[in-house]
Amino acid sequence: MANVTVIGAQWGDEGKGKVVDWLASRADVVVRFQGGHNAGHTLVVGGETYKLSLLPSGLVRGKLGVIGNGVVVDPHALLEEIERVRGQGLAVGPENLRIAENAQLILKVHAALDRAREAARGERKIGTTGRGIGPAYEDKVGRRAIRVCDLAEPETLAEKLDELLRHANALLVSLGAPTFARDDLLAELLALAPRLLPFAEPVWQRLDEARRAGRRILFEGAQAVMLDVDHGTYPFVTSSNTVAATAASGAGIAPAAVGFVLGIAKAYTTRVGAGPFPTELTDATGQLLGDRGHEFGTVTGRRRRCGWFDAAMVRQAVKVGGIQGLALTKLDVLDGLAELRLCTGYRLGEETLRHVPAGQRAQAALEPIYETLEGWSGSTRGARSWADLPAQAVKYARRIEELVEAPVTLLSTSPERDDTILMRDPFEG
Ligand code: IMP
Repeated sequence: MANVTVIGAQWGDEGKGKVVDWLASRADVVVRFQGGHNAGHTLVVGGETYKLSLLPSGLVRGKLGVIGNGVVVDPHALLEEIERVRGQGLAVGPENLRIAENAQLILKVHAALDRAREAARGERKIGTTGRGIGPAYEDKVGRRAIRVCDLAEPETLAEKLDELLRHANALLVSLGAPTFARDDLLAELLALAPRLLPFAEPVWQRLDEARRAGRRILFEGAQAVMLDVDHGTYPFVTSSNTVAATAASGAGIAPAAVGFVLGIAKAYTTRVGAGPFPTELTDATGQLLGDRGHEFGTVTGRRRRCGWFDAAMVRQAVKVGGIQGLALTKLDVLDGLAELRLCTGYRLGEETLRHVPAGQRAQAALEPIYETLEGWSGSTRGARSWADLPAQAVKYARRIEELVEAPVTLLSTSPERDDTILMRDPFEG
């Protein structure tokens, strides 16, 4: 049985939530493998609105949810989210949520560091979500991190907190921010331990069993390829790898088990936070896309920057992210525009490029090369087959397929889950 991995193909917020929810209803297990509570999506199921940021979406559909080792877990955020969805009538317990015992914890000190650093960056800030994601991953790689399993070993916890704080407090002092006391953090974590440990286990074993039993596993990516710490527009990126390959290492499963890789892309482009954005529109069209697309960050509440579809960038995301099929979302936001533009490459001084270069100054200087397409006057909203779409909308989607070198396997035409045109079932491989 094929598995499916869903990743974002732009800078996040591509509408992964709806697609993941749609696929989750057909999966047995849903796994988060990177990121933390910097992600966020809204699911509307049976008239109830669920705002999830750390819990795998499949929980809402009655599936087993797994938080893999690649995720950074803020215990307060997790427990609050569990309480919130329980209050909405959803049962969440160790029977339907498992957390990797080797996942790292985000502590209050990480969020404090994240915010203090951003403040110190001033004009050059990254625009992080301020949730401590970067500092938590730094501590993981620095071999100082507290892991879920450490909650069961008070002595290990005390020793590791000492080491972690030696590092973090020195930084906080240099940034002019308040420091943290070991004993306060220790008491806080020990108080949380009995609530978290029942969820902890070696999730790789459960996933291995699920795989051998022919269960369908859905890997739910957060953020997107252009925010990948290696492949994105560094340093304006998140602190994890967001490409499909991470599903294997971030869950503890074979690379082959990642299955069909579905990349999600909006029919235009948005970005929250700072960093290069070659096709950004600061004019009335940009405003219109933002208004129509309700482009406000779920986590940050900030208005998203909007622009034309950047096919050169998505093509790169297809290649480095391992995307085999594209789900194109929010096509209806473009309804009624007289003409549309697709970016096919960039001019950089005298050079013409078909890819996003790695250099920070080069990225900031890219001038998009556009191809102009005629818009459509009809509506695509709610369309459930290609035949329901205006001819120009079909042309637009087909041209995107050619430019990004990946087939459009799914088209979403409204926020409603069933307003989806399926060209190929990702679970069939
Ligand atoms: P961090 O992940 O909080 O460190 O933020 C780093 C960058 O990633 C910032 O530009 C954020 O706005 C962006 N980012 C993080 N999570 C998301 C997301 O779920 N959607 C879109 N952008 C995100």
